[in-house]
Amino acid sequence: MSDPATPSVFVSLVSAGPGDPELLTLKAVRRLAQAQVVLYDDLASGPVLDHAHPQAELIAVGKRAGRPSARQDHVNALLVEHALAGRRVVRLKSGDSGIFGRLEEELVALAAAGIAFEIVPGVTSASAAAAAAGIPLTRRLTARRVQFITGADVTGRLPDDIHWAAIADPAVTTVVFMGQRSFPELAAGLRAHGLPGDTPALFAEAVGHPHQRLIRTTVDDLARLLETAPVLQPGLIMYGPLAFGI
Ligand SMILES: C[S@@+](CC[C@H](N)C(=O)[O-])C[C@H]1O[C@@H](n2cnc3c(N)ncnc32)[C@H](O)[C@@H]1O
Repeated sequence: MSDPATPSVFVSLVSAGPGDPELLTLKAVRRLAQAQVVLYDDLASGPVLDHAHPQAELIAVGKRAGRPSARQDHVNALLVEHALAGRRVVRLKSGDSGIFGRLEEELVALAAAGIAFEIVPGVTSASAAAAAAGIPLTRRLTARRVQFITGADVTGRLPDDIHWAAIADPAVTTVVFMGQRSFPELAAGLRAHGLPGDTPALFAEAVGHPHQRLIRTTVDDLARLLETAPVLQPGLIMYGPLAFGI
């Protein structure tokens, strides 16, 4: 990989963390300060963008459930176009860009255009949610595995190829991204596959944002809550042998 300080055609794929600018890495801050163009997702906006160079062109290419969003091929084309024009391009994605961030599509487009890139990792909302709730993601005796799953396929519905035995394993911390709408259905499946309904669950909404909300509950109670609650903010669900009550 080329040195980002020298190439004239180069893209930095920068992870923005969950939203709190203090959770940006130093490298992310440096890349934002050097950028001439920043293509950012909806969830990677707000105060983190204050670190962009004052003259940088900021382009929203957000993808947010239930709202119109830029098509992936349009985002790819913008990335390639700005990089080939010799601009310092930052592609800013929420959390850690390698986790449910459609990173691969953009890497393929950059590689096909012969554009060098780097990936700047960041704090995923999963770690930030656990930290905000004051709990670890793993536990030495009871949660020796962590799994990250998505509650939405490309159509927004619960994926139909779920590995139920894996996600109903009571000895694992499972983190569900994009799962607010489908969680009642997911919880019914978990119950049918043997996960007790009183398994601890955390609902972490807008972590690192001013309206952060944390609900410590159980799988069954969270399913009931999400059946009727409107989805107004990004939210993450975590369940398993969570260390509530530390
Ligand atoms: C497209 S995925 C991106 C995940 C991101 N790459 C990460 O590592 O956090 C978007 C989902 O991540 C979760 N998410 C992202 N930011 C969040 C935040 N600040 N608070 C709670 N959940 C968040 C939500 O489940 C949201 O629907």
